[in-house]
Amino acid sequence: MDNIDSVAILDCGGQYTKVIDRKVREHSVKSDIFPLDVESEKLGSYRGIIISGGPESVWSDTSLSYDAGIFGLGIPVLGICYGMHLINNHFHGVVKPGIKNEYGQTTIKVDTACPLFSGLKKEQTVLMSHGDSVLTLAPDFISCATSEHVIAAMYNSRLSIYGVQFHPEVDLTASGKEMMSNFLHTICGLSGNYILEDRIRQAIGKIREQVGKNKVLVLVSGGVDSAVSAALLVKALKPEKVYGIHIDHGFMRKNESDLICRSLSSLGLRHLDRVDAHELFLDTPVQIEGKTYGPLKTVTDPEIKRNIIGHLFIEVLKKEIEKLGLDPSDTFIAQGTLRPDLIESGNPMVSSYAHKIKTHHNDVQIIRRAREKGLVVETNWDWHKDEVREVARRLGISETIAGRQPFPGPGLAIRYLCYEHEGQGVSDKENDRFFRLLGEEGWSSGGCIVPLRTVGVQGDCRSYRYLAVLSGNTEKPDWGTLYRLGTIIPNKLEFINRVAFSLNKKVSASDIRCRPVYLSKENLDLLREIDIIVRKYLEREPISQVFAVLLPAGVKKPFSAAIRAFVTNDYMTGRSAVIDRDIPSDVINAAVKEIESAFPEIDLVLYDVTGKPPATVEWE
Ligand code: XMP
Repeated sequence: MDNIDSVAILDCGGQYTKVIDRKVREHSVKSDIFPLDVESEKLGSYRGIIISGGPESVWSDTSLSYDAGIFGLGIPVLGICYGMHLINNHFHGVVKPGIKNEYGQTTIKVDTACPLFSGLKKEQTVLMSHGDSVLTLAPDFISCATSEHVIAAMYNSRLSIYGVQFHPEVDLTASGKEMMSNFLHTICGLSGNYILEDRIRQAIGKIREQVGKNKVLVLVSGGVDSAVSAALLVKALKPEKVYGIHIDHGFMRKNESDLICRSLSSLGLRHLDRVDAHELFLDTPVQIEGKTYGPLKTVTDPEIKRNIIGHLFIEVLKKEIEKLGLDPSDTFIAQGTLRPDLIESGNPMVSSYAHKIKTHHNDVQIIRRAREKGLVVETNWDWHKDEVREVARRLGISETIAGRQPFPGPGLAIRYLCYEHEGQGVSDKENDRFFRLLGEEGWSSGGCIVPLRTVGVQGDCRSYRYLAVLSGNTEKPDWGTLYRLGTIIPNKLEFINRVAFSLNKKVSASDIRCRPVYLSKENLDLLREIDIIVRKYLEREPISQVFAVLLPAGVKKPFSAAIRAFVTNDYMTGRSAVIDRDIPSDVINAAVKEIESAFPEIDLVLYDVTGKPPATVEWE
């Protein structure tokens, strides 16, 4: 194998492991991902080793095993987060929990004499996502960066071993690209000759090898991922062997399926069928591993919703295979799965150690089974969102699809929060801690903790925690403090992972009530209409994804709406769009006014100020 220009990434289960390899490729350097315990002999021909972050702790029983020989190969090593802890531990330093939890962007000071930070400013904004940190440096290592509370980087120049507590691989680390360049080019001496055209050719070759002369059914959702899959299949196989199916599960946005089917006609698919399955998705229970779940109209748990939807996609597909008179035993199913989808789903094929954050619709149990039988074709699974967009453009796919904002497979079903029963809220003690913290941070105008939980990602683990709503001057909100609180509150209060501001009304602690709500066609229609208004005003640069969320919570009325406007490239991390900078305040005010006047059932209009981490892009 020609590894001359490659680095090895050792995976410790970090949510950003795949982002590391994307960052490496951004410098046209090839990388291969190995489990952490790979034998060091296998790595001898690599020019650099990067050890990823991960959810475990080096001091605990669940610490991961590794081959100590990796440090004797004479190859430069960069350890990130858990990777840094592992290095420090290995060389007899001390790593401990509880020195300071940091989730979100943090300012650090770096020593520019360290080759990793050469040419950079002394003050850097970086993404931290950790509970553990270095208490005592290993002998022979020196600190080369510090945050207010922890050692943020360390190195041993003789051994060419570096460790960073923060994540240089994500966009929220402002100079991460330069740091990676310093490691790859200066420290490892890599040149960079790995290009996208080669990878497109490889993908086409792989499809031919896997599918041969058989037929393949590709699920086209209308997003860029599945469109690229379809286009690659048409290129790789005889067009009459490729069947496109668009399933409208009833959770699409308004008129979206019509629009999608029109724009997909440019993909060169000979067969493209649309299946309307609204009732089926709401009304049908599913069997997973002998247990019955659903139907969806009775479910509140977002993970169960995701699993039911993923299974029903396949049930519908099976019926289509029958209708088309195809043989299920040699008909392949193609999907536009990206590697991050599998990482977030905790798929053991891409990472032995990653925790599940959420089950993506394309990685439910039934798909895993079909994958084991070799029947699932995943043309994009080595790519990231921005790479897929680039591939789409090179394949001549229209910009309407290539540049389209992502839309999750389970659609509006997860943007419509459901609620079952009373008493899911926080304790009095937790409430007191919340208000004490608001006081300490100078936020005197109040807020409340809503007894609704949403999914987040903190320190590479899933969290399912409460929503804090802050209230204040709606005419002229103090956005600076609000964004700051969006980081501080989840960092300090372990029961909150998302913070939103009430754009239209003041709320006090005891005001907000939640009521039992399940998915229904009527309320989905309501969310569709609100979403149109939100996107009409806010689909604008630099926002990468914007949508509305429906919450079964209000002061006097049954529902509230939330606006999520998010800025990211990799979708694994990112920040909430900043009002007054990314979005003029008169634009957001106009959106709120229109929502208030058009929908009498909507009480509060919230704006999510939380980044990822600690929240996720979606509310669910
Ligand atoms: P989160 O909410 O995990 O989302 O921060 C990251 C990106 O992934 C999209 N998303 C999905 N895409 N199937 C998909 O194809 C899914 O099940 C799914 N869930 C989330 C989300 O919209 C965002 O762009």
